[in-house]
Amino acid sequence: MFIDLLRQRRSIRSFDHRQIEEDKVELLTEALLRSPTSKGRHPWEFILVTDPQIAALLATAKPKGATFLAKAPLSVVICGDPTVSDVWIEDCAVAATIVQLAAEDLGLGSCWSQIRSRPHESGGMATTVLRKLLHLPTHLEVASIIGIGYPLAAVAGHSRDSLPMHKIHKNLYMRQ
Ligand SMILES: Cc1cc2nc3c(=O)[nH]c(=O)nc-3n(C[C@H](O)[C@H](O)[C@H](O)COP(=O)(O)O)c2cc1C
Repeated sequence: MFIDLLRQRRSIRSFDHRQIEEDKVELLTEALLRSPTSKGRHPWEFILVTDPQIAALLATAKPKGATFLAKAPLSVVICGDPTVSDVWIEDCAVAATIVQLAAEDLGLGSCWSQIRSRPHESGGMATTVLRKLLHLPTHLEVASIIGIGYPLAAVAGHSRDSLPMHKIHKNLYMRQ
């Protein structure tokens, strides 16, 4: 059941050295392209990074929260085009979530690195630095980067007791 996948899912930031098999990369690619988008506009573009030298540079896109990308066998840079859709951010977030869950289903681990709205250590924006590094056209924004690989160690899913049940409201918002 799908809920079992969600019960075991955790963010994975440490990967072993195994490369991801080509057929699994193909499936991840298909999952990305099957992500639903508002009005079917597909305002995203995905850069699949497997080159360790480029991965090392992705890891410096922002001061914190991206270092794990240096050792990720695969990073998916999720870019969006605001000229194609006013809800490109949502469409990119949907694709990011879908590729993370597809990775989990394939026995892989992954973690999101937020890029949109995040500054680079130079004081500029992480997106601007990545645009130059990855030769992106100026109309593309970088939403996030998803690092993917085989987990170095298993991480237990969140227990049912730890779920923030108070965030669920029935019919009307009521403080509990
Ligand atoms: C929108 C979003 C942005 C995130 N940004 C980062 C990030 O920049 N770096 C990072 O290491 N983790 C990032 N994460 C992962 C969260 O830190 C992680 O999901 C959260 O701590 C809960 O842990 P879990 O995924 O293991 O349940 C992000 C997650 C989301 C949904």
